[in-house]
Parts: sequence; C-alpha cells; structure tokens
Amino acid sequence: MSDPYLRFDGITVEFPGVRALDDVSFAAHAGEVHALMGENGAGKSTLLKVLSGVNRVTEGALWIGGERHVFANAREGLKQGIAIIYQELTLSPNMTVAENLLLGQLPAHRGFLDKRRMQAEARRILRELGEDNIHPATKVRDLSIGQQQMIEIGRALLRDAKVIAFDEPTSSLSVHEIRQLKRIIKRLRDEGRVVLYVTHRMEEVFEICDAVTVFRDGRHIRTHDSLETLDQDTLVSEMVGRDIEDVYGFRSRPLGEAMIEVDAIEGHGLHAPVSFDVRRGEVFGFFGLVGAGRSELMRLICGVEPPSSGEVRLNGKVRAFRTPGEAIRAGIAMCPEDRKSQGIFPVASVSDNLNISCRRFFKRLGLFRHPRRERDNTEHYIRQLSIKTPGPQTRIGTLSGGNQQKVILARWLSEEIEVFVMDEPTRGIDVGARRDIYNLLYDLAEQGKCVVVISSDLAEVRSICDRIAVMRDGELVDIVPREAATPERLLGLALPA
Ligand SMILES: Nc1ncnc2c1ncn2[C@@H]1O[C@H](COP(=O)(O)OP(=O)(O)O)[C@@H](O)[C@H]1O
Ligand SMILES: [Mg+2]
Repeated sequence: MSDPYLRFDGITVEFPGVRALDDVSFAAHAGEVHALMGENGAGKSTLLKVLSGVNRVTEGALWIGGERHVFANAREGLKQGIAIIYQELTLSPNMTVAENLLLGQLPAHRGFLDKRRMQAEARRILRELGEDNIHPATKVRDLSIGQQQMIEIGRALLRDAKVIAFDEPTSSLSVHEIRQLKRIIKRLRDEGRVVLYVTHRMEEVFEICDAVTVFRDGRHIRTHDSLETLDQDTLVSEMVGRDIEDVYGFRSRPLGEAMIEVDAIEGHGLHAPVSFDVRRGEVFGFFGLVGAGRSELMRLICGVEPPSSGEVRLNGKVRAFRTPGEAIRAGIAMCPEDRKSQGIFPVASVSDNLNISCRRFFKRLGLFRHPRRERDNTEHYIRQLSIKTPGPQTRIGTLSGGNQQKVILARWLSEEIEVFVMDEPTRGIDVGARRDIYNLLYDLAEQGKCVVVISSDLAEVRSICDRIAVMRDGELVDIVPREAATPERLLGLALPA
C-alpha cells in the first residue's frame, strides 16, 4: 500500500477536566473512505477539529502529504487543503448559494464583484454536484438540509481540498439525499482525496467505506485497513469494549404460566408438525437460516394463512384466526420483517402511522377520529421511545430504520396486545437504536406479555431471549434454554445436516 497521505501522530487533546483524545495515532490513505466510529463522547468530533485547526493539541502532530503540521487555527487547516463538513452547517443563511460557495474567493473585476462570473462558476459547481436544480441566486435559508450540505461540499471542491471529513452527515438527511451524498463521496474517493467519515450507521460503513478506525473514551482502539474480513459484531464490541453478547444487556424477569400454546400445527411452509409454548413475561426466540420456516409458522398462528391441522391456545382457550385483524383483536400482533412493504405507510406521517390502529379501534366503537387524543398519543411515544423525528407530521419514510421500527412498536403498545411477534426487529438498525428496542421488548415482557422474536442474528437471540427455538428446513428441531445456547449448539442445529 502507498504511504498514507494523512497521519495522526500521538495526538492528545485536553479540555479542563477532560482528556478528549489520548495519544491517538493512525493513518488514512488518499483514495480511501475512512470511517471513524465510536460511541458518543469517544472523541471523533474532537479529532476532526484537530484536523481543521479548530482544536489545539496538547501533544502530538499531524502529517499531511509527508509534512509535519501543528495548526494554530482553522485558517491554517484550510490552507493545507482540509475541509470539514460539520453536523451544524456553517453557511450564511441570508446570502445566496453563489455567495456562500465562493465566499472568500469571489471573482472581482476592477474591484467590483463580477456577478456574472460568480453565477457561472456557482452553476458549474452545482452541476458537478448533480444539483442543477438549485439556482445560484437562491438564498441558502430556502434550501433543504441536504442541499445545504451539498453547498458545503461544493465549497470544499472549489478549494480543491485534499482531505474532506464528514461528521455524521446523514443523520438529518432524507433517503434520497443520503443516496446522493453516497454517490458524491464515492466520487471524492475516486478523485484520490482522503474522505473521513464519522457515522453510527453500520450499513453505511460496510457500503461505502474502505477502512475503519474505532475510538473509545478518547483512545484509538483499532484501525482496520480493509473491511473484507471484518464483521459487524467485532466492530460493535470494539466500540463498546465488551463481548457482543453483553452489549445489549439481558434483563431477567419472573416467568408466568404458558400464555400461548401451539400444538402440532401444520400448514404451508412447514414439513412437520410444530409444537411449543411461550410463557407470560417470556422473550422467546426463533433462530434459523433464512427460509427455515420461521415466518411461515408465525403466519399460521397469526391468522395470515390458515393451518391445515393442529391447534393454538391463547390463555387456555382454543383460537383459530381467519384474518390478522381477528388475531389482533384477540391480542396477538405480528410485526413483519419487511417494514417498507407491510409495516409502514412510507408517505404517511409519523402520527398517522402511529395512530392507525387506534383509529380502527375508535371506528369500531362508532367514533370518528380523535385529533387531540392522536396528538397526545404521538407526542407521548415520541418522548417515551426517543423517536428521532423532526416532528409528528414528518413522513415516516424519511426516518432511519431504527426510528421507523420504534413507531411501529409504539402503534402496538397503544393497543391491548398480549403477544408480540416480531420478525427481524433490528435488521439494519444501528447499535444505539437496537438497545432502545431491546429495552422496549423487556418492558413489554415485564408487564407480563409474551414477546416472540424471529431472528437470523445469532448474537441477538443469544443475548436477549430466555429460550430459543431453532428451525431448520420447515421443522422445529429443538428448544434451547438461554444457559445452553452456545453459538456452536445453535448453529449446529440450524445448519443443514
Ligand atoms: N470544547 C470542549 N470543552 C470541553 N470538553 C469537550 C469539548 N469538546 C469535547 N469535549 C469532551 O471531549 C470528549 C469527546 O467529545 P467528542 O469529540 O465530541 O466525541 P464524539 O464526537 O465522539 O461524540 C467528551 O467527553 C466531550 O464532553
Ligand atoms: Mg461528535
């Protein structure tokens, strides 16, 4: 590999009472997107501010293109070709796009601003960014956050910055804006720049990054120069400094009598009769490979498809549901895996998604919508589940997967549901939001409800479930108590013999 373009050499940054960075050394190469990961407070933003010259180092130095630098201020950072795109954007809202882009390097003609050239130059940059639809004379305050971010990137391009760093750039962007940002980042990399990318989102790291450095408590933990052999669990445990099974935190609780009993049920997708029960207060897992029959089994139980034989008892009473609606009214709700197509109404608002089943409930009572109750309900759950949304009326499709999932859970929480069946509840969801969701599942279990989790994530089932049923090829092969659920045992049961 070529010599690194950028090297942090023993960087220590102290604030009164805090050592924000402690002897941090690592390197990043030109033509690489390098992720910086770590929990809140790990020191990522501080590091970027050292790079830009905003933060002074207590000790250590930067090496940029083979030269040693210690910046005294942000201006020096800029001169060395460093550009940082912070979360809080730094544009002037009342100035135009063109003025913001060319700030500090406005073309002048005999001492006057050459407006025509300025507009042309701005237009050229906007085109390069794929933002042709922004007019250079638009005031920045009229742009979306994503568009403003593009203007920041445009400024970096105009200065031909060699190092461009992003501090959690996607946290307030729409799905469409995220896609566009990823495209531009790949281009910056292909042009041979160093891209530093601070993010919490695992899927972004594996999608667009070439290397990743992990920080914890101000210390450099590890730099992975390639992601080829790296897996998500390793990254998470490096970030939190514990084994993956301990990361999510198991909460033990007393279990009650069997609430749902499934007896020799057969039907579409199963190759043998299946029997199991789930107790009050239990978190019960279904582990297996994709296609093992777990979701099919749940569909037979929850009224999506009729079983061909066997019986389901809820609180001792035999029940057969002809529709999911009947199951819900009896207290069994299934939260499907494919949120986009089955669970949410992407163009509807957070509030509508949250209140949809509560509306059905009122309608059954012969009542109409109840706007104040809906608003209170929405605000309550946004607070209780820390759902990160600009507001109750935001389109749910623009939220991150974790926050969408919380809205769906909140929908069921506001109903009289006793058995929650969740199909891959945390797929594609980052660590922080995962923990929130697990805590919610435990809250439900502690209220004496049943939680059934279908998961293909070994670490997840091992860390959160009381018992784990393993399915293989349309059959339930065994039910393993938590204490005996080693990875070898579960995988041995799940894999084809
Ligand atoms: N200007 C500052 N003054 C005092 N403490 C700070 C300052 N900036 C950051 N810190 C502290 O430094 C540590 C690292 O913070 P930060 O770099 O923002 O972490 P991250 O971006 O990884 O979440 C935290 O404990 C934070 O409180
Ligand atoms: Mg930060």
